[in-house]
Amino acid sequence: MADFISPFWDMYVKVLVALSLLFCVFVIATNMRATGKVGELQPHSWDENLQEWNNPLPRWWMYLFWLTVIFAIVYLVIYPGFGSFKGIAGWSSVGQWEKEMKAAEEKYGPLYAKYRNMDVKAIAADPEAMGMGKRLFQTYCMQCHGADARGAKGFPNLTDNDWLGGDGSPDYIKATITNGRMGVMPPFPQLGEEGAKNVAHYVRSLSGLAHDATRAQLGSKIFAENCAACHGPDGKGNPVIGAPNLTDNIWLYSSSETQIMSNVMNGLNNRMPAFGEFLGQDKVHLLTAYVWSLSHK
Ligand code: HEC
Ligand code: HEC
Repeated sequence: MADFISPFWDMYVKVLVALSLLFCVFVIATNMRATGKVGELQPHSWDENLQEWNNPLPRWWMYLFWLTVIFAIVYLVIYPGFGSFKGIAGWSSVGQWEKEMKAAEEKYGPLYAKYRNMDVKAIAADPEAMGMGKRLFQTYCMQCHGADARGAKGFPNLTDNDWLGGDGSPDYIKATITNGRMGVMPPFPQLGEEGAKNVAHYVRSLSGLAHDATRAQLGSKIFAENCAACHGPDGKGNPVIGAPNLTDNIWLYSSSETQIMSNVMNGLNNRMPAFGEFLGQDKVHLLTAYVWSLSHK
């Protein structure tokens, strides 16, 4: 509530809460007594002979309603709920979350710390550690890389030992998880649709995929002039800038003519988020071992 810039919503909530409480009080108060003459038999009847007396509602039952009103007021004094008033207990959902996170860290931290000084290869051979690594992966990485880590369009497969930006060593994997990475390729609108199509056929020819030989011929010149700087003169890629090998028939996007043309015309801007600060080094170490194990059976 404190996030609202205008004080209007604060007042709006306060007035609504106060009015509803007042309304409850009004309804309960006006129903404490019976109207008309108490103890009189009412003139109407149901089901032929079922009749009712005019009596007040049971006291104990009415008091329950008063209790709910008192509960609401006490609650609103202690906890947040009355507009931007924070309550005297100082409770907040963020505070509770932080407390729970701290408790979890104290409880589970040592489990991860146990592997802190162990070699990645030794951790990969430890079934218990791998179970923990897998659960971490399924919590933090699965939404992009898939439950089986085989990736999806734009999200690399982590099981094939083919790497965008390195050799798949534990150091490379750890640096990637800690700092994230960027995969940026500039767009080449100046090539035009024809040029993009030709170079796409050349790129497909590098992996031995079906292509038009004439177009590939024209494309090879375009490639040498525009693409070789990053992907290498032979198209085998350059891990330093994360330019993938275009000759291995492993595709981050897809090998279709349309997709390659789109990569060339629109460029690419891919990002792996950094997890170092968020997870802390012990969890990153365990995840490194897990990811490493996926391609080093
Ligand atoms: C928001 C999506 C997203 C999440 C979540 C994510 N990644 Fe990634 N990851 C990517 C993208 C995109 C790339 C490729 C970046 C590029 O193009 O250079 C990548 C690349 C990688 C690479 C390098 C692959 C290579 O071929 O060089 C590793 C290793 C990796 N991720 C591990 C992880 C781990 C472990 C986690 C969980 C802690 C994780 N990722 C969570 C999107 C994600
Ligand atoms: C400035 C460096 C750079 C240049 C120049 C460059 N690329 Fe790229 N290219 C990259 C990077 C980096 C990626 C990976 C993007 C990612 O991680 O998402 C990439 C990805 C690709 C892909 C996707 C590969 C896959 O596995 O799906 C294709 C195809 C491609 N480039 C073709 C070309 C062509 C054709 C040219 C020339 C017209 C070219 N690139 C020029 C850096 C470059």
